[in-house]
Amino acid sequence: MGFKQLQSANPLVVSYALMKPNRSERRLLEARKHAEALRAKVMHHDYQYHALQSPEIADAEYDLLYRELVDLETEFPELVVPDSPTQRVGGIGSDDLFQPVKHSVRLLSLDNAFSHDELMSWQKRMERSLGHSPSYVCEPKIDGLSVALVYERGILTRGATRGDGTTGENITANLRTVRGLPLKLKANEGVPDWLEVRGEAFLNIADFEAMNRELGEQGKPLFANPRNTASGLLRQKDSRVTASRPLRVYCHGLVHAKGHTLKSHWEVLSYLEQLGLPVHPMARQCPDIHAAQHYITELEKQRHSLAHEIDGVVIKVDRISDQEELGTTAKAPRWAIAYKYPAEEQTTRLK
Ligand code: IVH
Repeated sequence: MGFKQLQSANPLVVSYALMKPNRSERRLLEARKHAEALRAKVMHHDYQYHALQSPEIADAEYDLLYRELVDLETEFPELVVPDSPTQRVGGIGSDDLFQPVKHSVRLLSLDNAFSHDELMSWQKRMERSLGHSPSYVCEPKIDGLSVALVYERGILTRGATRGDGTTGENITANLRTVRGLPLKLKANEGVPDWLEVRGEAFLNIADFEAMNRELGEQGKPLFANPRNTASGLLRQKDSRVTASRPLRVYCHGLVHAKGHTLKSHWEVLSYLEQLGLPVHPMARQCPDIHAAQHYITELEKQRHSLAHEIDGVVIKVDRISDQEELGTTAKAPRWAIAYKYPAEEQTTRLK
């Protein structure tokens, strides 16, 4: 660009050039502004459609916006940035695919409760240690795969599988294809330099069935269930294949947000949401264990009408200070428990 050449030549000319860009520089500046606005729009509608499943515009209107961005980036390749929604496939992260990733904090598992009696014993144990009854957040326990995500200065730079909890595999290139997951966080009040979150990757049942129908028509072997299918997609060597399928992620935990201290898990969820990360819309605050039990009963009734498979409810102590006081065992936090619903019949496998 003209600026650089002039800069080295004569500082006076630089200031003149900066004040009065020539025509091609003006076009580029305008194109850059336009590309930024288009990217923000496409990112917003990606989130509405893929994360919230509540589109605000028709598919054709979205396609026009997306096409306009692609055309602009084709005309001005210097405007392409790795976090552009057009750059979900290829590029960043592909070289490191499946390389080992050491998690900064171990991914723990959860203790289970199989009855309301077991749930009440857990609650009693906590009440004894804390000296008071805690409040809770209840979330659907998605039957998917844990993922660990890192955003550096707002950009998704690393996504990994759980692995053995200490070390997982780098799957950044495949997670970048998940359209409900922002490549760049929303920067309403600034983004943290370093954000580490945990979530669950999964496929909706309808998408899994459509995929199996297609495989069947091609005479290819079918997947047993949505979870196996999601696992296969995350382990794809060619992220174009992952991109062609509607893999989803809901974030359910914050490991670290540099410079941010939050007082409750509920605040964590709303903070993640503010940053544009997908959070399960059915997460609820429950003031006591009876409210949590009510949530468990109500969700079980809706279990078969949900878009994705769940195998229970995760009940988490809401206040972070209570969580810290309760601590963790070698395997699982003491402040959370998975209430498991009875196992589903594997009807798909039988078919
Ligand atoms: S929180 C330290 N919340 O269940 C607590 N986990 O059986 C970590 N899972 O490995 C987990 N939905 O992959 C949490 N809403 C949710 C979840 C959830 C599904 C998975 C997670 C975890 C496994 C434990």
